[in-house]
Amino acid sequence: MRKQTKIPALALTAAAALALAACSGGTPEEAASEAASPSAATPASEAAPASEAAPASEAAATPAPAPSASATPAPKPEATPSPKPAPLPEPKAAPKPAPSPEAAAAALTPPASFARCAVCHNAQKGAGAKIGPNLWGVYGTKAGEISGFAFSDALKASGLTWNDANLDEWIAGPMKMVPGTAMGFPGIKDPAKRAELITFLKQAR
Ligand code: HEC
Repeated sequence: MRKQTKIPALALTAAAALALAACSGGTPEEAASEAASPSAATPASEAAPASEAAPASEAAATPAPAPSASATPAPKPEATPSPKPAPLPEPKAAPKPAPSPEAAAAALTPPASFARCAVCHNAQKGAGAKIGPNLWGVYGTKAGEISGFAFSDALKASGLTWNDANLDEWIAGPMKMVPGTAMGFPGIKDPAKRAELITFLKQAR
């Protein structure tokens, strides 16, 4: 509401100012210097219609110039803020060290060892399930919670909330850790590879 009342008022003010500037030739200095000259009669007579032009344009502004006057200045205030709201999602990123989750996601490349997981898993925002669930955002969730996947009863009943320690055990041998899981994967023996996979899963959210 404020904007709607302010903008036409500003537009009218601006229009009046423009009309005055156009008709009077602008600065008070010019008027003063001309008034000092002998030919002061010329600007003085011009000044009179100029001051009359202002009310005239205001009166005319109601039917005709009003839409055009408001249409012209309107895009200007909007054009400036509209590119700015785009980076607003950043507040969401505030708790995380990364500059923004979207930038991090775009730059996020899984480690080479993820190739073995990628047979069965996506790990991208919005991606679907394959043989296993999309692992985007899995870190910190309860086991078997990711939507869009039919988890085994065994995993759902495990009571796990995924963290560094239990992911390490899971990746080392899921079928040993949760007997009856549907993740038919023997496990990764190399602790360094498990660690880099966990780091990746932490970032993939
Ligand atoms: C042969 C296919 C397959 C491979 C390979 C595989 N997974 Fe899985 N994964 C699954 C399936 C199926 C499930 C669901 C298990 C269930 O419901 O019991 C799962 C579940 C998971 C979960 C738990 C998801 C949740 O929301 O609780 C994690 C974490 C996971 N996998 C990580 C990995 C990682 C990391 C790798 C690579 C080292 C990997 N998986 C390799 C099939 C696979």
